[in-house]
Amino acid sequence: MRKDQTVVEMRGITKRFPGIVANDSISFQVKKGEIHALLGENGAGKSTLMNILFGLYEPDEGEILINEQKVDIKDPKKAIELGIGMIHQHFMLVEPYSVVQNIILGTEPTKGVTIDYAQAVRKVEELSAKYGLQVEPHQLIKDISVGMQQRVEILKTLYRGADILIFDEPTAVLTPQEIKELMEIMRSLVNEGKTIILITHKLKEIMAVCSGVTIIRRGKVIDSVTVKDTTPDELAAKMVGRKVSFSVEKQDANPSDSFLKLSNVQALDNRGILALKNLSFELKKGEILGIAGVEGNGQRELIEVITGLRRVESGEILIKDKPIHNLKPRQISESKVGYIPEDRHKTGLVLDFTVSENMVLKNYFYPEYNKNLFLNYDKINHHAVDLISEYDVRTPSETTPARALSGGNQQKVIIAREVDSDPDLLIATQPTRGLDVGAIEFIHKKLIEQRDKGKAVLLYSLELDEIMNLSDRIAVMYEGRIVGIVDPKKTSEQEIGLMMSGSKSGGEESA
Ligand SMILES: Nc1ncnc2c1ncn2[C@@H]1O[C@H](COP(=O)(O)OP(=O)(O)OP(=O)(O)O)[C@@H](O)[C@H]1O
Ligand SMILES: [Mg+2]
Repeated sequence: MRKDQTVVEMRGITKRFPGIVANDSISFQVKKGEIHALLGENGAGKSTLMNILFGLYEPDEGEILINEQKVDIKDPKKAIELGIGMIHQHFMLVEPYSVVQNIILGTEPTKGVTIDYAQAVRKVEELSAKYGLQVEPHQLIKDISVGMQQRVEILKTLYRGADILIFDEPTAVLTPQEIKELMEIMRSLVNEGKTIILITHKLKEIMAVCSGVTIIRRGKVIDSVTVKDTTPDELAAKMVGRKVSFSVEKQDANPSDSFLKLSNVQALDNRGILALKNLSFELKKGEILGIAGVEGNGQRELIEVITGLRRVESGEILIKDKPIHNLKPRQISESKVGYIPEDRHKTGLVLDFTVSENMVLKNYFYPEYNKNLFLNYDKINHHAVDLISEYDVRTPSETTPARALSGGNQQKVIIAREVDSDPDLLIATQPTRGLDVGAIEFIHKKLIEQRDKGKAVLLYSLELDEIMNLSDRIAVMYEGRIVGIVDPKKTSEQEIGLMMSGSKSGGEESA
């Protein structure tokens, strides 16, 4: 195969869904050994296009060439035969099975009638050494980290002989360290002659590992450019159609009364080990308190005890001097607590409900949404139409099921609902995960707006940039404790990094 061979070419691909043209005559090419990015706003049509390449959807028009040969990819089986593999954003692994079992599932080598497990393990080990994909072959999926689960997905495609790998927002679920590792893995894959198509919203990643990028807006290709000839600003402007500001503009905070108070809170993790150790802090109205830390240092458990999803073993949590620990989530939410959860599929949305219904999921029983004994759908739909326009949710209509929305637009539905319910305390966990740069700018403004209205905002994000830009104070967690609360204006990413690794404590309330 020639070095400059076009490995993937899509020509004039059109795909229509009820009420929307998701892909509108899209054409683009990827050369051998390239990492090619697909960039575009939430709902632009990126996942749809890649689902077509992987045989999950059939295009209404257009053709696909693999290695310069016209092909008909009618299902994923055919895609795999052609050497295409896809790493989906929501992993498709079987949790109670081991790593190796998942990798070989459906392709088991046979020795007589029994599976030659030893041979499979050897092959997995070879692949894993060759590409730097570290896994523990005999661990169960449910017991390994998200980063390792993703490596299992990659190994699974390689095991099936993939030469073309599609990654749909692979870094959205990873920690900063795991992102670095994935970038290395991608480099080693192309060094070995593989070709990669990468969907990502993170311009930094595109600049770091991609050679080419195709920009899609509202189903159409806007441009294909070489990464070395462009800049993040230019890419952002091309994809959104206007200039995007990456810095967050805000005035100093005017914190007033204490709103949320934790005193000596202790809680266990899922394995029964102490995950929160004597944790105390206060959050005032009119401020954003950011929670920083390396994933797995108790942040998730902290959010769960405040939202009523996890038991507090000792200590107390007060909202305006009223204890709320160990109340039910609904009772806590009724104390005017809004919650943007981390996993939008598990806890944020009911995927089979419409966008409108999802937007009143927590307050459909309010008198304004009820008429006699029935739900007042006129009101509910009107409310949704307003929020769809305010939050720029890209959906064919307010009665479309949430399932049919793109990932980023599902996220916008949750944020719209939670912010619109006008909570006194807004808990935002990874609020901009999966959002395009334009939407991130908007959501950041919304969080600042809440603060300026005198609301208390608790922000948990693994993106240190986001924490630094938005927070008025930053609480750094390490091994279940708050090792310090710092002022972002008087600290550096480096200092916070040291605190996150436990090598330094600091700030007003160091423990
Ligand atoms: N199965 C489906 N049924 C109906 N509409 C769909 C379906 N899948 C996607 N769409 C619509 O097609 C459009 C493109 O969606 P797609 O998921 O491809 O966007 P995306 O570029 O991947 O966005 P994001 O960055 O948010 O993931 C959206 O308007 C979406 O609502
Ligand atoms: Mg998508």
